[in-house]
Amino acid sequence: MAHLQQNYRNDSLMLGFSDLKRLRSKRPLVLTAGRGIKVFDERGRDYIEAVSSFYCVALGYSDEELIEPAITQMRALPMYPSAIDRTVPAVMELAERLAALSPMPRTHVTFATTGSEANDHLIKFIWYANGFSGQPRRRKIISRWSSYHGSTVQLTGLGGGSDLHRSFAVPTDECLHVSHPNWPGGAQPGESEAAYGDRLAAELKAVIEEAGPDTVAALFAEPVSVSAGMYVPPAGYFAKMKAVLDSYGILLVVDEVVTGFGRTGQFWGTQTLDIKPDCMTSLKALSSTYQPISAIMMSGEFYDRLEHDSNEKGWFAHGGTYHAHPVAAAVALKTIEIYERRDIVGHVRAIMPAWQRGLAALNGHPLVAATRCFGLLGAVQLQQPGEGAAAASLQVGRLPAQVYQAGLDAGLIVRPLANCLVLSPPLIITKPEIEELFSRLTRALDRVLGSIPTLP
Ligand SMILES: Cc1ncc(COP(=O)(O)O)c(C=O)c1O
Repeated sequence: MAHLQQNYRNDSLMLGFSDLKRLRSKRPLVLTAGRGIKVFDERGRDYIEAVSSFYCVALGYSDEELIEPAITQMRALPMYPSAIDRTVPAVMELAERLAALSPMPRTHVTFATTGSEANDHLIKFIWYANGFSGQPRRRKIISRWSSYHGSTVQLTGLGGGSDLHRSFAVPTDECLHVSHPNWPGGAQPGESEAAYGDRLAAELKAVIEEAGPDTVAALFAEPVSVSAGMYVPPAGYFAKMKAVLDSYGILLVVDEVVTGFGRTGQFWGTQTLDIKPDCMTSLKALSSTYQPISAIMMSGEFYDRLEHDSNEKGWFAHGGTYHAHPVAAAVALKTIEIYERRDIVGHVRAIMPAWQRGLAALNGHPLVAATRCFGLLGAVQLQQPGEGAAAASLQVGRLPAQVYQAGLDAGLIVRPLANCLVLSPPLIITKPEIEELFSRLTRALDRVLGSIPTLP
């Protein structure tokens, strides 16, 4: 390959979530093609994408059906912003389709480009509604530690991670944090699932009381927080949290950026976990990320407040050039049509047992402390050999990075996060492909195990 440099030196490109110094001398993995659940690097080597890139390419990397609507829309009208009383048919239809799919009553939808924008804009909308209803002090937003909701200044503060906050000196004064639910790992010895859920709800109440209930606007939460390491809440968690929020007039916003569109075995994670949100955000599988588009979905009750207020002002002072891009909307519409025609959610449910089996089979491996599984999501918690699941320490050192590298050598891309590997493959994955994925992962684990010197 002509563009494959022997003595690589990068003097211009900066990559996120990377070691910038190492990036100067170490050529990054350069991907040039994708087919189904696989991507191919510049040498032509294939990798099973066990994380669908960033938990997003739900329909795989080469769906020809998603290309056609983009071309058609580009030819008809490549760009027109949806604002100032103007829009395009694809955007109108997409809003209708999402409202019909929404679990919230009388859903209204508006669009942005990224998940960060969707969450960030929704915070603005909530402040707007609170300001107009005589509650301008109601600004604080709660999230769970270790969660991730986006990369803007506000959302970096909201996401719970000191690396994210401190290293960028991000202001967090309007962000509150509560514990991340993790059943059974987060429960105290002997604590029942119900008692654990009660304790988490009591913590939420205490945080609200301490902050001043009339200063708290909303709780942002993923149904299952993937970026936190894929931890599952105890049964009844969301009902208990919602009861606390309702008692203070605080909104529940469900971030369905990752969990929406079938990832958890139902269309929305909200449905799988029987959550009653006031607002939702959606992004990744919405267009299978072939085009950048995110959706902010609001219950009729919440939207009525915005409508009432904007009527007083004469306009709703918000918009953006790329919001609801017509090409992205056309691709998202086709994505929804494919979901229905090919019954993607039914397919996910059908392969979930094979997925669960594959994860469970890793449990005996000396480097595996535990595995977690939810829908078509998984996490493999690592341990030093001989450590024992009970220790399951955070002292795994470089293990996640080592397994990630060994995975690349075995033709597999996983996501190392803290002491875990997170898995979230394209939803179109088949049973034989699941078996191949876990066979490559086992090879990677074996290789790292073989490289660890045995104690005398
Ligand atoms: C749950 C969740 N919300 C929001 C975001 C932010 O989306 P984006 O990267 O498109 O800004 C992410 C990104 O991975 C996410 O996982």
